[in-house]
Amino acid sequence: MESGAYWQNVYLTRRTDEVGWYEPDPVVSRHLVAAAVRAGARSVIDVGGGASSLVDHLLDLDLARVAVLDVSEAGLEVSRRRLGDRATQVEWIVGDVTNVGDVGPFDVWHDRAVFHFLVQPEERAAYVRLAQATVVPGGTLIIATFAPDGPERCSGLPVCRYDAGELADALGPSFRLGATERHTHTTPGGTEQRFVYATLTRTS
Ligand SMILES: C[S@@+](CC[C@H](N)C(=O)[O-])C[C@H]1O[C@@H](n2cnc3c(N)ncnc32)[C@H](O)[C@@H]1O
Repeated sequence: MESGAYWQNVYLTRRTDEVGWYEPDPVVSRHLVAAAVRAGARSVIDVGGGASSLVDHLLDLDLARVAVLDVSEAGLEVSRRRLGDRATQVEWIVGDVTNVGDVGPFDVWHDRAVFHFLVQPEERAAYVRLAQATVVPGGTLIIATFAPDGPERCSGLPVCRYDAGELADALGPSFRLGATERHTHTTPGGTEQRFVYATLTRTS
């Protein structure tokens, strides 16, 4: 099944608070984005944000531009409905991060649990090209994937697992590795999943 149809089906058939990646509070992402905003960032794109409530927190940060990109319209619709009137303050971009085209410049690119689905080198190359084109020089890329001791599959799909150094290598010399942290996510079903979070700076 093509990626968009696969994820549409997930969001149309499963409750968002029962899927493995559900977080009632995206606490690590929230803190990492807030640190970038304290350092001067004014625009944030959540790549593969789906139904995540991170966007709710982004709207509290008084930013100039907030966007959520996802291959699933149904995932974005969950967030739109949750936000109600505030949804109009967000740019909703339906597209595949590997072929969506230009999304404009952003100070912060956030991705939790999307990059690790890109198991083909050409998909990763397309992702990196879009990140290079999108994150302004000096801007911040925050990325979270399954760690080397994390699950081998996510939502039934195979994933690539990374430590922070491997993530930096995968993103290439346009991004310089900064802070990293490991985080254990507990799924709604009670399973522990090890993640790695990395913050990188776009080189000029
Ligand atoms: C595991 S979920 C994580 C959702 C959200 N980032 C979070 O932390 O709750 C993966 C998300 O990435 C989206 N996705 C998967 N492949 C994608 C792609 N190639 N381009 C854009 N979005 C994608 C899915 O629709 C889904 O919303």
